[in-house]
Amino acid sequence: MTDTTRPRTDDEYIFHATDEEHVRLGYQHRVWAEDLYAGWRRAGFAPGWRVIDLGSGPGFTTVDLAHFVGPAGAVLAVDESQRFLDLLRVRMGAEPLDNVTPVRADAGAFDTEPGAYDGANARWLMSFVDDPAEVARRVARALRPGGVWLIQDYSDYLGAGLWPESAAFRRLLAAVDAHWRDGRGDPDIVSRLPAVLDRAGFDVREARPMVRAGRPGSVLWRWPETFFRSFGPALVAEGGVDQATLDEFWRDWDERAKTPHAVFTSPPMTELIAVKR
Ligand SMILES: C[S@@+](CC[C@H](N)C(=O)[O-])C[C@H]1O[C@@H](n2cnc3c(N)ncnc32)[C@H](O)[C@@H]1O
Repeated sequence: MTDTTRPRTDDEYIFHATDEEHVRLGYQHRVWAEDLYAGWRRAGFAPGWRVIDLGSGPGFTTVDLAHFVGPAGAVLAVDESQRFLDLLRVRMGAEPLDNVTPVRADAGAFDTEPGAYDGANARWLMSFVDDPAEVARRVARALRPGGVWLIQDYSDYLGAGLWPESAAFRRLLAAVDAHWRDGRGDPDIVSRLPAVLDRAGFDVREARPMVRAGRPGSVLWRWPETFFRSFGPALVAEGGVDQATLDEFWRDWDERAKTPHAVFTSPPMTELIAVKR
């Protein structure tokens, strides 16, 4: 296998590969893990499969995927962040797991032996890449005919909700959305993917909406908290939003947290299952 590595810098990921982001990704993984495992089952991932975990991050998904495909299977973990791949290696050592190969590369530049993989997994990756069509071509090249790509990503970021409504929450969300687009990503990416996938040689077998709602104190309620605590100050420092809006948001959030009928609804995501022709 030839794995070319054209790494980007850690800082190009708009949420940054920091310690706080590592903790947040772990929390986020636990919140959404059941949906991911169900997606792998729907996609037909099976023991013995060779799969690519694209945008693996620090390896929360990778380790679970490595167990899912078992010792007869293998996982190629691709991420642009050296820091996150180092954390993945720590996880692999602690398990221990020897069926994972971490590779530092841009998702739009990784290279493998053609047709060598049965499946690919990309959760919260396509919304960050600058050329989704190139990523799709790379995945198509790596998969065998009939190989399956599971994508779970945002499809309507501004569709997230906090009830009772909060103007500061809306402004903050809009600032994150704008900052994301100013980078190189698209927080509504999934709506563009069926056409991209078709052109790259995939049939989209299934498109499934994924939205969750949580009350104060629930596991889901704490998920946006971990995001705004870790990314809010960076967004202010980068000029995406003013400190007054962030402060107002926290006042509203803390008040909603004491309101038993308050609800947080996640940004709508969509799962795509695409099969290589
Ligand atoms: C939100 S995290 C998701 C991590 C993991 N997929 C999960 O579900 O927990 C996004 C990851 O994508 C990586 N990433 C973003 N853009 C990338 C690119 N162009 N090439 C490779 N990795 C990228 C980041 O370094 C980060 O690890």
